[in-house]
Amino acid sequence: MKVFKRLFLYVIPHCRLVITTFISMLSILVLGLLPPLILRTVVDIALPSGALDSVAWLVASYILVNLLLGVSNYGQWYSFELLGQRMARDLQLDLHNHLQRMHLEYFRKQKTGDIMSRVTEDVSSLNEFMGWGAILLVSNALTVLVTIGVMLWLNWQFTVAAVAVFPLLGFVVVRFDKRIRPIWTRVREEMSKLTTVLQENVSGVRTVKAFARESYEVGKFGARNKGFLGVNLERIKVESNTQPFIEFLSSLAIISLLWYGGGQVASDRISLGTLIAFQGYIFNLVWPTRMLGMLLNLMEQALAATPRLFEILDTPSAIIDAPSSTTAPEFAGTLEFKDVTFQFSDGDNEVLKAVSFTVEAGQVLAIIGGTGSGKSTLVGLIPRFFDPQQGEVLIDGVNIRSYTLESLRRQIGIVLQDTVLFSATIAENIAYGRPDATRGEIERAARLAQAHEFVAQLPRGYDTPIGERGVGLSGGQKQRVALARALLMNPRILVLDEATASVDTHTEYLIQEGLSDVMQGRTSVIIAKRLSTIEQADYVIVLEHGEVVEQGKPRELVEQHGYFRKMYLSQHHNDETAPAATDSREVG
Ligand SMILES: Nc1ncnc2c1ncn2[C@@H]1O[C@H](COP(=O)(O)OP(=O)(O)OP(=O)(O)O)[C@@H](O)[C@H]1O
Ligand SMILES: [Mg+2]
Repeated sequence: MKVFKRLFLYVIPHCRLVITTFISMLSILVLGLLPPLILRTVVDIALPSGALDSVAWLVASYILVNLLLGVSNYGQWYSFELLGQRMARDLQLDLHNHLQRMHLEYFRKQKTGDIMSRVTEDVSSLNEFMGWGAILLVSNALTVLVTIGVMLWLNWQFTVAAVAVFPLLGFVVVRFDKRIRPIWTRVREEMSKLTTVLQENVSGVRTVKAFARESYEVGKFGARNKGFLGVNLERIKVESNTQPFIEFLSSLAIISLLWYGGGQVASDRISLGTLIAFQGYIFNLVWPTRMLGMLLNLMEQALAATPRLFEILDTPSAIIDAPSSTTAPEFAGTLEFKDVTFQFSDGDNEVLKAVSFTVEAGQVLAIIGGTGSGKSTLVGLIPRFFDPQQGEVLIDGVNIRSYTLESLRRQIGIVLQDTVLFSATIAENIAYGRPDATRGEIERAARLAQAHEFVAQLPRGYDTPIGERGVGLSGGQKQRVALARALLMNPRILVLDEATASVDTHTEYLIQEGLSDVMQGRTSVIIAKRLSTIEQADYVIVLEHGEVVEQGKPRELVEQHGYFRKMYLSQHHNDETAPAATDSREVG
C-alpha cells in the first residue's frame, strides 16, 4: 500500500490530465447508456404511433450521441495515454538521475542488463497500467454496474436471465489468464536469452572468427531458437484451446437473450424495444468482462515492477556530499595520502594498505607496480570514486571529503585506463566536461593531446561522429581524444591511468613535450609502464599488493636494488640492444 502512495506522488503533478480523463470517462459511461434507450423508444413508441418526424428526431439524437461518444473516447484515450507517458518520463528521469549519482560499486554488483530492464521494461509495464489499465479497470467496473442497474430498472427478471452467463465468462477469462501468464513469462525469458546470444555473437564476431567457432555459435543460436519456438507453440496451443470457448460464451449471452426474450416478446410480457435495448446493453457488458483477465494481469505486472523501481531509488549513494561540505577553492595542487587503507565492499583483501605519500603542487608523480597491485584503485580515490576506510586524502592540506563532489571533480582531469567515448562527434566528446567550450579551445586541447593531426585528416574533422554509428578509432586515437577531453577541463590535478599505453613512443614523446608546458604549476599523477614516461617524473612510488614498497626520485630509486631498478635495467638493456623496436617495451 505504501507503494501505491508513492506512485500516487507521480500522478499528482498531472492532476489536470486525471480530471480530463475522469470527465471523459463519466461522459462515456452516461452516453453509452443512451443508444439502446433511443432504439427502444423508436421501436416501442415512435414507430407504432407512426410519428415519422419524431423518428427523425430520435435518429438525429442517436447520431449525435454516437458522435459525442467518439469525442469522449478520443479525450479519454488521449489523456490517459498522455498521463501514462508523462509519469513514465518522470519516473525514468528520476531513476536515471539517481543512477548517475550512484556510487561506482553499485554498478559492479548490479548487472547492467538488470538495471536496463528495470529502467525500460519495468517502467513500461507500470506506464501501461497507470496509463490505461487502471482507468479501464475503474471505468469497466462502473460500466458494468451502471449498465446492470439500468437493465434491472427496465425489467429485473429479464436481466437475471440475460446476465446469467457472465459470471461463468468472467471465471473462464480469469482462469485462462492464470494459465497463459507463466507461459508469457517464459516467452519473454526465451526471447531475452535469444537476444543475448545474438548480441554476443554480433559484438564478439572477431573472437568467434579468430577461433573458428562459427558452427558452434550457429548451433548455440539454433538451440535457443528452438526453445523460443517451443514455448511459443505452447502459448498458441493454450490460446487456441480457450479463445473459441470464450467466443462461444460471449455469444451464448446473446443466444439466451434472444431465446428467452423472444418468448417474452411473443407472449407480450416485454416490448420489442426492450429486447433490442437489452441486446445493446449485453454488448456493453461483454467487453469489460473479456478484458478483466488482461487488466488484472496488467495490474499484477505493475505491482511486481514497482518495488523493483523504488528499490533503485531507495539505494542511497554511498558517496554523497557531507552536510557541512563546501565548494572547493581553486587548488594549488599539493596532494597527500595519509595512511590510506581501502577495501572493496565485496572484496576479501585490502587493495591498498596504509599508503602514504605527498606530491607538491606542480610536480609529476609516477605510480608503477605489477598488474593488480592497486594503481587504478589508488588514483580512483582522488576524485572520490571510492572513499578509503582508513586514513585520508588531502589536497592543499584539506581532507577532500569536506568539499562537494562537483567542485572537487571539476578540478581533476582524469583519463581512465579503459577509455570510453560517447556516440557523438569528436568535438562533443572532447567538450564533454565543458559543453560551453569554443572550437578554438577544443582544438588547442586536441593539439596538446596530439590528436589534432589525425582529427584534421578525417573527412568531417571535429564534426566527425564516433562511437556506435560513427567511424571507428584506433586504441591510440581514442586515448588521445580522451586526453584532450581531460585537458580541456584545465584541471589543477591531472590523473592519467596508462593514458598513453596505446600510442607509439614517438607520439608519446610529443604528448609529454606538450604536457610539460601545460602542466606547469599543476599536479600530475601518472600511471605508466614505459620508462621514458617515468623518468620524467619528479617522484615515483612503487606499489606491490597495495603497499608502497619503494618511493623517491627516479634517480634515487635506480640506486636501490628493487622493482624500479629491475624495470630500468630491462628497458634500458633493450634500448641498447634493439634501439629500433622501442614501441612495445613495457614492464607490467
Ligand atoms: N571494483 C572492484 N571490486 C573488487 N575488487 C576490485 C575492484 N577493482 C579492482 N579490484 C581488485 O583490486 C586489485 C587492484 O586492482 P587495480 O585495478 O587497482 O590494479 P592495477 O594496479 O590498476 O592493475 P593494472 O596494472 O592491471 O591496471 C585487484 O586485485 C583487483 O582484482
Ligand atoms: Mg589499472
